[in-house]
Amino acid sequence: MSTAMPAWSLTENASLKALNTFHVDASAEQLLELHDPSLLPDVLAHPHVVGKPLLVLGCGSNVLLADNVPGTVLVFANRSIEELEHRADYTVVRAGAGVNWHGLVMWSLQNGLSGLENLALIPGTCGAAPIQNIGAYGVQVDEFIQAVDAWDRETGEWVRFDAEACAFGYRDSVFKHAPDRYLITAIELRLPLLHDLRLGYAGIAEEMQAMGVELPVAADVANAVIAIRRRKLPDPDVLGNAGSFFKNPVLPLEQVDVLLQQFPELPVYPADQDNRRKLSAAWLIEACGWKGFREGDAGVSPQHALVLVNHGTATGAELLALARRISASVLEKFGVPIEPEPRLIGAQW
Ligand code: FAD
Ligand code: EPU
Repeated sequence: MSTAMPAWSLTENASLKALNTFHVDASAEQLLELHDPSLLPDVLAHPHVVGKPLLVLGCGSNVLLADNVPGTVLVFANRSIEELEHRADYTVVRAGAGVNWHGLVMWSLQNGLSGLENLALIPGTCGAAPIQNIGAYGVQVDEFIQAVDAWDRETGEWVRFDAEACAFGYRDSVFKHAPDRYLITAIELRLPLLHDLRLGYAGIAEEMQAMGVELPVAADVANAVIAIRRRKLPDPDVLGNAGSFFKNPVLPLEQVDVLLQQFPELPVYPADQDNRRKLSAAWLIEACGWKGFREGDAGVSPQHALVLVNHGTATGAELLALARRISASVLEKFGVPIEPEPRLIGAQW
């Protein structure tokens, strides 16, 4: 049954295969597509929705569906971008939860705004961007987020978070610790007209040189990032994946020093706190021999050791079982626990 209603629609027993980038063949009891988020309180009180579990999905590029999803999967379809405020040195931009993230990055560059260029080609929606504080090539979105608007399912009220209230960290935010509580309807970003380009991340300067760019502008950085990402990461449209399957572990300095004595070639990066360091989960996994591994249709990308892939018909449970074997082997060899980055739906880590 499909019930068409103004500004929203509900489809029963909906396939989620196109709604997760692993392309796991799972289904939702019902799929709710919402074009006008101001209707959220009414929609949540609807007899078909009230009292049932609720899961929000953007593009499903950071989830692993370990099972079919009970209750309602909500997808925001508000896809407008507005310029709220023009100042001499920045513009405030508001993007609906359903706006494609890469689309926003391209729109910002076309409109003379900068800041988001290092975050080009990250899959997903704007509504999901603050959840894990998306980051790449030396930039995290928290640098630009001014506000996040959400419906709080616990209090039944609209809430507006400023950047501080979002409690952003590496792949972390207040939203990540309260899954399904806050339904993010829009984000506001303060985007500079000019800023210092961030070219320090390994590979960007070399890519720019190879492109023949001598005096780069923000759009050149985006092009370099896009080229590197296309080379390094499998395209989910071709080979199902959710990007990095594990977060890079952040450890106390003393533990890293001990590890370096045994593994001097271990890559070590700065972390948010001075007394901690970030390790490369990809390096640890590759050192355990997993890169390019395949069993049935579940595997590890031969391009990047941190990316689990679905070669066709792997189930979420199979991918999860592989992830557990990988993390157990890293723990055994290095004594370092690694945790999944995607949210596991229908299973616990
Ligand atoms: P989903 O996967 O649909 O959802 C993720 C989580 O957010 C779920 O818990 C979901 O319930 C919740 N959620 C989604 N929308 C809302 C909303 N409106 N309100 C409340 N909760 C919501 N991430 C990076 O940080 N950096 C990268 O460089 C990067 N590269 C990637 C490369 C590839 C090839 C892939 C497949 C993924 C990559 N990712 C990366 C992960 C992913 O792109 C991001 O986490 C993205 O923000 C997820 O967006 P989504 O819309 O697909 O969210
Ligand atoms: N490496 C290996 N083997 C590999 C790949 C990488 O040993 O197969 C080592 C190399 O030493 C390399 C280092 O890992 O120099 C870092 O690799 P990369 O630059 O690809 O970064 P990453 O740490 O693996 C992180 C993010 C990515 C983000 C890139 C670029 C996490 C968990 N992942 O990956 O985000 O795009 O940096 O900034 O922080 C994602 O979150 O889904 C994601 C793709």
